[in-house]
Amino acid sequence: MQTVHQLDQDTWAGPFAAETCREAVAALERGGVLYLPQLAFVLEMRERSLFSSNLSDSKAKNITLDPASGTLQGGDLDDAADALLRGMLQRFSDAATQLAAGLLPDYAGRIERARTTYRPVEIAGRSYSPKKDDKLLHVDTFPSRPARGRRILRLFANINPAGQSRLWHVGEEFEAYAKRFLPGLRAQYPFEAAALALLGITKGRRSAYDTLMLGLHDTGKLDAAYQKDAPFAAVAFPPGSTWLCYTDQVLHAALEGQFALEQTFHLDVAAMAEPARSPLKVLERMTGRALV
Ligand code: SIN
Ligand code: FE
Repeated sequence: MQTVHQLDQDTWAGPFAAETCREAVAALERGGVLYLPQLAFVLEMRERSLFSSNLSDSKAKNITLDPASGTLQGGDLDDAADALLRGMLQRFSDAATQLAAGLLPDYAGRIERARTTYRPVEIAGRSYSPKKDDKLLHVDTFPSRPARGRRILRLFANINPAGQSRLWHVGEEFEAYAKRFLPGLRAQYPFEAAALALLGITKGRRSAYDTLMLGLHDTGKLDAAYQKDAPFAAVAFPPGSTWLCYTDQVLHAALEGQFALEQTFHLDVAAMAEPARSPLKVLERMTGRALV
C-alpha cells in the first residue's frame, strides 16, 4: 500500500477538481497520509514571538484551543501572548477547516471541528512513560473522551522557523496491527464504563470499541520487541508543509520536530465513503460483535 499521497496544492481555499477530492477521500479512508508539501501556514510578523518552547506549562506538551469556550489550555502565557496565540490558532483552525471543506466535500455538514493545538516543544529527547510517549508507534485514542467509533482526522502544519522537519514513522496497516494485539486484550469489565463515567474519569461512557482501542494503544506501546522490529516508513515533513490522516487508523510515531500546528476533526463512520475501512468496522469484523 502507498503510505504517502502527495497533492500539489498551495492554497487553503481550493478550488479542487472532483477527481482530486475523490482521490483524497479514498487515500485517507484507506489509511494513507495526504501530504501537501507546498501548502504553508504563514505566520504574521508579530506572531513570530510565539516561537518559544516556554509558552507551554511544564506538564503539557501542547497548548490547546477549545472550540467551545475559545480558551487556551496548557499554556503559561501573559495576556498579550495569550491573545496573540489565540488569534493564530483561530486563523489556522479556519484555514484547516476551509481546506477540509474544499477537499472533502462529501463530508460536508458532518465533519466536526474539534480542538486546535500548538506544539512548541521539541519532541526528540523528551521522556515520558511508554503509554504517553508518542515517539512509539500507536493509533490515537483518548482515555478520557470516548469516541464510540467516531473517526479522528488530524491535519498538521510544520511552521518551524529554523528549517527543521517533523519526522514521523508510519507503521503497518491497521488490520495487521489489530490482528497482532487483539488476541491478548481484555474485554471491558461489567459496570466498568458506568463507573468511569460516574467518577468523572471519562466524559460519557466508554464503549467496548474504546476499551479495545486503548488496549491496542497501550499494549502496542509497551511491547518493546514490536517497537524495535515492526515495519515502518520514515517520513519527513519539512517546514512550510501540511499533512493530514486518520490518526485513529494510521499507525504513527513522531520522532523529532518543534513548532507545529494541528487541527482535529471528528466524523461519524456512517459519513465515510467506505465505512467498512473504519477501525470500528474492522474490529467488529474481527471480534464478530457490535462494539458500540
Ligand atoms: C502524535 O499524534 O502522535 C503526535 C504527532 C505530532 O505531534 O507530530
Ligand atoms: Fe498520535
